[in-house]
Amino acid sequence: MEYRGYDSAGVAVVADGAISYRKKAGKIVNLVADLEANPLPDSGLGIGHTRWATHGGPTDANAHPHVSTGDRVALIHNGIIENFAVLRAELEAEGTEFTSETDSEAAAQLLGREVSAGVDLADAMRAVCNRLEGAFTLVAVDALEPHRLVAARRNSPLVVGVGDGENFVASDVSAFIEFTRFAIELGQDQVVDVTADSIVVTDFAGNPADTHPFEVTWDLSAAEKSGYDWFMRKEIYEQPRAVADTLLGRYNTDGSLKLDELHIPESELRLVDKIVIVACGTAYYAGLVAKYAIEHWTRIACEVEIASEFRYRDPIITRSTLVVTLSQSGETADTLMAIRHAREQHAKVIAICNTNGATIPRESDAVIYTHAGPEIGVASTKGFLTQVAACYLLGLYLAQVRGTMYDDEIHAVMAELAATPPLIQKVLDELDPIKELAKRFIDQKSVLFLGRHVGYPVALEGALKLKEIAYLHAEGFPAGELKHGPIALVEEGIPIFIIVPPQGRDQLHDKVVSNIQEVRARGALTIVLAEEGDHEVDPYADVLFRLPKVSTLLQPLVATVPLQMFACELATLKGYDVDQPRNLAKSVTVE
Ligand code: M6R
Repeated sequence: MEYRGYDSAGVAVVADGAISYRKKAGKIVNLVADLEANPLPDSGLGIGHTRWATHGGPTDANAHPHVSTGDRVALIHNGIIENFAVLRAELEAEGTEFTSETDSEAAAQLLGREVSAGVDLADAMRAVCNRLEGAFTLVAVDALEPHRLVAARRNSPLVVGVGDGENFVASDVSAFIEFTRFAIELGQDQVVDVTADSIVVTDFAGNPADTHPFEVTWDLSAAEKSGYDWFMRKEIYEQPRAVADTLLGRYNTDGSLKLDELHIPESELRLVDKIVIVACGTAYYAGLVAKYAIEHWTRIACEVEIASEFRYRDPIITRSTLVVTLSQSGETADTLMAIRHAREQHAKVIAICNTNGATIPRESDAVIYTHAGPEIGVASTKGFLTQVAACYLLGLYLAQVRGTMYDDEIHAVMAELAATPPLIQKVLDELDPIKELAKRFIDQKSVLFLGRHVGYPVALEGALKLKEIAYLHAEGFPAGELKHGPIALVEEGIPIFIIVPPQGRDQLHDKVVSNIQEVRARGALTIVLAEEGDHEVDPYADVLFRLPKVSTLLQPLVATVPLQMFACELATLKGYDVDQPRNLAKSVTVE
């Protein structure tokens, strides 16, 4: 689970009527070294946590588990407890001494107080949950109950792994996929009471609660590096299959679309008068790409909005607005809050998500799963390509339902989309020059990316990858906007990646070729991504990378790949941890 947070880690076990624990700042290797030097007692019950710091720096003391005064309970927490200061003051007034600066310890101390007073562990957990505000997944053990743990969730993920004579709880299934594929998805505001042979789920009031069992469709190897140095590199190479799997079964042999999973009546889809795509980070950029296609195909106005901004600006959402959320993890708190806001305004919400059993699909009206397999590298890669592919399926489906494209037009686009996986593979097979290029960038301080139309979000995504994993200042701009300001950044030798639209089939091609000349005339080193056979760019490209011929709207599926690999290669050469870049975590489950 380290990809979810890696600034400190800890474990606790229950044995011999006591809780034993170790916790260490830094990556898990530090904890492992400590455990090797000071082993924990054998036990059949344990909890572990990797942290992404919110309250209190990444120190040993702030690492989880947090143990209540008197060592009665140990607890781990994901999320943010917003009213922790009030709770902490209350407990301190009673004489409780806190040993960390975290919000989480307030929950541990509250739980310890209840259990020490004789309250049953699950009842105590429910009582604690009812006092907490904010987002939390909590897992706790009691020193006197060596065969039982309790866990709870609100606005933060928790799944149960159902084994044979053993059970698990975790933030996601990759934690226990080695042991079982059978899982139970916990709903909002539920508590689960787990022993090796029993799983009891209730709501926060103690009433029995409905659960949703599911079977994980991928196996352990999908969550392993399989010989690659980084998950990110493996995931870049998985993209042809990931896109193919996302398209699989969603179109008929004649090219018409079938999105059986939508469960939104066609009559309702015909009434939609606005689409709002909401997402964060890379998923937001996938949404920006999708806007061009969706508006073009459906003639419905489509806005794309950063989820963390969405609900706080009182967006205009009505019953006839279709909100489409993109999230690889399905747990991004900003996106989840946007969904709740949209549904409060009676909008229909379709989630495009990669994670079965996650909160976002559960809280949406419908879901289109991207079948990318688990994405573990913190920098999203196959997430982006599959989100674009899924949005295109949705766009074509809406066009089909609303009759805004002729059948043969839909079939032609679908046929081209279905033909992209081998083209993505071709890009992957020809990446050596990009890898070589990275060697020239080790001491580079700043890089720019230019694109127009769908090439603009590709530029943004190329820049984000460099920022995230190579810690390099990088900016993406719409090439046409250059002359309105950003061109002042161009100085002798500055590298600029330019994504060139298809030649002869795109009205912006020549304008982008002019933009290349403009920056080159001012000393930039131009790195040009242009399609095969486009020789107009040759004189102005210091470095030229060829892309397969595709139509404009499909170009992001091939043009993004070299930019991903460039960032991966550069970060590797710089000696950085590509899969666990500083300050980041894979799933951002706090607002
Ligand atoms: O899981 P999500 O798709 O909701 O995640 C959204 C962003 O947090 C994510 O794309 C982030 O920007 C990645 N680190 C980008 O590489």
